[in-house]
Amino acid sequence: MEGAKAAIARRRAAPGPDVISDLIRVRDGDRLSETELVTLVWQLVLGGQTPANLIANAVEALLAHPDQLAAPRADPDRLDLARDEAAHLGYAHGPHFCLGAWPARLQVRIALTALLRRSPGLAPAKTPERMPDPGTWRLASLPVVL
Ligand code: HEM
Repeated sequence: MEGAKAAIARRRAAPGPDVISDLIRVRDGDRLSETELVTLVWQLVLGGQTPANLIANAVEALLAHPDQLAAPRADPDRLDLARDEAAHLGYAHGPHFCLGAWPARLQVRIALTALLRRSPGLAPAKTPERMPDPGTWRLASLPVVL
């Protein structure tokens, strides 16, 4: 939050062609409260970390279910990438739908495709470690053999 406040103060003093300056213009035109402005900027920064968590979580899930890399199967209790796409709330819903959903999806798709293409023998090296975090589901480490 302190970082978000500092970034806002910098752009207020010297606005530029960036999303924070645009948000400040809206805020100062009275369409956002200061709290909304600060939390939006904070979420933009935090959002930068979430695709990295998702990529590591996806690699962990794929390594734990190698059948999904070989021949996807339909079974409600299994990770099943071939299942019909159902609506989900991963990026929320409604007016606060994630601003970064599309870049996040693209980033994850590119990272996983490149990793699996370059390392077709990708395999777990040790048991992954989870990082306790009340806000996100993240790994502290995911040792693999490339
Ligand atoms: C796997 C990646 C991501 C997931 C799962 C995710 C998930 C979410 C969720 C659930 C919300 C709604 C939060 C709420 O209602 O309180 C949200 C909001 C938001 N996300 Fe993401 N996000 C991701 C990536 C990103 C990225 C990459 C960015 C920016 C570059 C971003 C920026 C934002 C912003 C600014 C909001 C607030 C939108 C608003 O309140 O109008 N997110 N995200």
